[in-house]
Amino acid sequence: MNYRLLLLFHLFYLSRTIPLPHSEIAKKRFPDAIIVGVKKAGTRALLEFLKINPLVKAPGPEVHFFDKNFNKGLEWYREQMPETMNGELTIEKSPAYFHSKNAPERIKMLNPNTKIIIVVRDPVTRAISDYTQSSSKRKRLGLMPSFEEMAVGNCAMWLKANCTTKTRGVNAGWGAIRIGVYHKHMKRWLDNFPMQNIHIVDGEKLITNPAEEVSRTEKFLGLTPVAKPTNFGIDPIKKFPCVKKSDGELHCLGKTKGRPHPDVKLDVLQTLKEFYAPENKRFFQMVNQWFDW
Ligand code: A3P
Repeated sequence: MNYRLLLLFHLFYLSRTIPLPHSEIAKKRFPDAIIVGVKKAGTRALLEFLKINPLVKAPGPEVHFFDKNFNKGLEWYREQMPETMNGELTIEKSPAYFHSKNAPERIKMLNPNTKIIIVVRDPVTRAISDYTQSSSKRKRLGLMPSFEEMAVGNCAMWLKANCTTKTRGVNAGWGAIRIGVYHKHMKRWLDNFPMQNIHIVDGEKLITNPAEEVSRTEKFLGLTPVAKPTNFGIDPIKKFPCVKKSDGELHCLGKTKGRPHPDVKLDVLQTLKEFYAPENKRFFQMVNQWFDW
């Protein structure tokens, strides 16, 4: 494939142009770990919480190199990274990598030892969250069909949703549903990375017990955990955890996180639950980890 050659060329070029590492010099490095997904499962919260550890450094925006910006080349990618000293960890997060066909193979080619972090949550809640995000603009314009119509109804082809056939009563071709069939995407990651290089974060526990989930992730990254319950407080309005700074002030995620979800009809929730049950089971077996959804 062409991008293999491109990648090899860039790696050769970089090896010729990067000066030898010097322990005292801060420099931009490729990520040690990548939060690859899952979109709307709590990826931003995880990254913000990991940054409580002073050894964790991350670029501000999502980089989307291994899916959308790959043709910009490795030097562009490295340029997006923060400067780090030896011993500090660079972590990137681009949640669309999880369901990208090319990302796992491309990341492996750059560095097969990259640590892969995946936040998962109940795919039904995830789908509603995805819908809430994508409809927030259209709804204001009065153009968005209801979640129920999209998930189990006539869908809306003009939204680029493929809903020509239903699977167990669900429009499984609609992106918001398809992304939640985790095992299909997970297989590509396991084809490229051993399970010991992959860490699964429970997106629900990240809300109810952030200190524990963040500590587990710090350990996976080879860091001495610093996240403690006292590092967190609860947003009085949205009720989601926020980082508590040393002066007691709360640093909460922005207005695009923790949006109110629409009330979804119970029978549609049940149809979705039944649709996902066998898919979830396959995912749990694949990663040898069980969740209560
Ligand atoms: P909603 O806005 O639909 O509630 P991501 O960052 O991967 O896009 O995930 C966004 C989701 O993270 C939010 O979806 C929210 O449910 C969840 N989340 C988890 N912890 C959060 C936190 N501390 N603050 C805000 N949202 C959080």
